Amino acid sequence: MYKKILIPIDGSDKSMQAARHGAELAAKIGASITLIHVIPILPVDIRSLVMDKVNAQGQELLDKAARDLNKYKVHIKTEMITGHPADAICRKVKASKYDLIIMGSRGLSTVKGYLMGSVSGAVTSHSSCPVLIVH
Ligand SMILES: Nc1ncnc2c1ncn2[C@@H]1O[C@H](COP(=O)(O)OP(=O)(O)OP(=O)(O)O)[C@@H](O)[C@H]1O
Ligand SMILES: [Mg+2]
Repeated sequence: MYKKILIPIDGSDKSMQAARHGAELAAKIGASITLIHVIPILPVDIRSLVMDKVNAQGQELLDKAARDLNKYKVHIKTEMITGHPADAICRKVKASKYDLIIMGSRGLSTVKGYLMGSVSGAVTSHSSCPVLIVH
């Protein structure tokens, strides 16, 4: 039923919990997973100063996550894109025909007033495919 699963990660424990959940499910149903990290659009004046570091950190985060999921024996791709996270995730789903998104309820933010963060909330509302939120 689900062949291509998209797992957005931001480096938070919750997103890694979602990634493990996704890998376990993918192994059981024979799906492949893509770990995706979205780099937010930065103001032009600071972009050139920090972009190399931000890109390197993003790739490191993805590589580490992929290594952590090795034991599940599923096919894993990693990808980094730039944009507004929720919007970029929803676009990616359509463009590359993913059929399930698995993500954390919260992420890196320290403000924990609501059950869901802005990215998980917006993806849940706007995604064209089913979304599995890991609380
Ligand atoms: N930049 C990103 N790239 C990829 N996935 C992301 C990104 N930001 C958030 N996510 C995904 O969304 C989930 C929820 O994070 P979200 O950012 O919505 O919550 P938060 O950080 O607690 O709150 P907020 O960012 O709204 O202040 C994460 O567990 C992760 O799966
Ligand atoms: Mg966040």
